[in-house]
Amino acid sequence: MPTPMVAALCSPWRIGRVEIPTRLVLAPMAGVSVQAFRRQGRRYGAGLVCSEMVSCAGLHHGNERTLGYLRIARDEHPLAVQIFGSEPTVMAEAARMVEAAGADLVDINFGCPVRKVTKTGAGATLLDEPERASRIVAAVAEAVEVPVTVKMRRGLENGSRSCLEVGPRLVEAGAAGLTLHPRSARQMYTGTADHLLTAELVERVEVPVIASGDITSRAKAQAVLATTGAAAVMVGRGAQGNPWALREIVDGDDRQPSREEVVAELVLFIRETARELGERRASGFLKKFYGWYLGRGRFPKPFKQELVMLGSTEEVERLLIAAAPGALPLLERLEDELPVADEVLLDELPISLYGGG
Ligand SMILES: Cc1cc2nc3c(=O)[nH]c(=O)nc-3n(C[C@H](O)[C@H](O)[C@H](O)COP(=O)(O)O)c2cc1C
Repeated sequence: MPTPMVAALCSPWRIGRVEIPTRLVLAPMAGVSVQAFRRQGRRYGAGLVCSEMVSCAGLHHGNERTLGYLRIARDEHPLAVQIFGSEPTVMAEAARMVEAAGADLVDINFGCPVRKVTKTGAGATLLDEPERASRIVAAVAEAVEVPVTVKMRRGLENGSRSCLEVGPRLVEAGAAGLTLHPRSARQMYTGTADHLLTAELVERVEVPVIASGDITSRAKAQAVLATTGAAAVMVGRGAQGNPWALREIVDGDDRQPSREEVVAELVLFIRETARELGERRASGFLKKFYGWYLGRGRFPKPFKQELVMLGSTEEVERLLIAAAPGALPLLERLEDELPVADEVLLDELPISLYGGG
């Protein structure tokens, strides 16, 4: 039998009419996928980036912090903004706001396993309610011109195969693409992602399927594409504090970053995040990133602990630069290549958001 053709990771593909330049998608991650993360992901080769899950109820009530998730930069397209909720009409309204904010795709979350979300009838619980799930997708697809996609887990319970029943129904209802993270909601992040299920889903639908779960290297990405027939792979935890993993996956460039490169990317990330969230929110938000960037044997452990104790992002920056002064020219170059801040922010959002909310 001839070996099936496997698309190169750096080749373009489409969801509906949206062209995506590479087959690597940066995963939506709550508490992680800020604008700086997404823009960095695009620079390192992700063809599509995603916002974290945004509450449709929060958008409906005009909650300022929720509206802040709709800030979209020029250099992060194509971008999917992900929404979650359980009411078709409220989800449709949220989707219209997401489209108006400039997202290229609206993604619906039917995968979140966290109780705070599932107890409201949203997230992964919808995999047990295919009727309602289909109504949500139909209402959202009806409400917007941009393609609508859905991200799912395999089902609620271990061993569940619900995604294979629900997935095709969602496509019938109007989904132009599906992402599967083949763990059960009960599993959370334990065990492994069972991509045999991804292969089965690919067989059952005519739209592109994105494979999510445990993809941390080019070898794994290529194996998953080859064995599942998925259109693309999604990378989440592997990219935390490690944009270089994206470059390795897309281009096979496996050079490890120098300390100076790590510090330059981290300082840029700190500055961009402080601008986006405001200093107070950013300084707490960023703490987990210090371990992610400085771990992997790049810096000694006590250095990270020292950074986490500091009160302001400026102090963190000073200590980082002192540890790797050669990072400064790299940082300048990175900043020169980015669009200036004013070009990046979306004008229509309430002015107070720019202070961080
Ligand atoms: C901290 C964190 C937050 C996440 N938040 C979301 C989210 O908001 N929406 C979503 O669909 N998936 C979310 N996920 C799941 C990821 O998108 C992805 O499917 C999962 O982590 C498996 O991929 P990985 O092994 O590459 O991390 C989250 C995962 C993590 C680790």
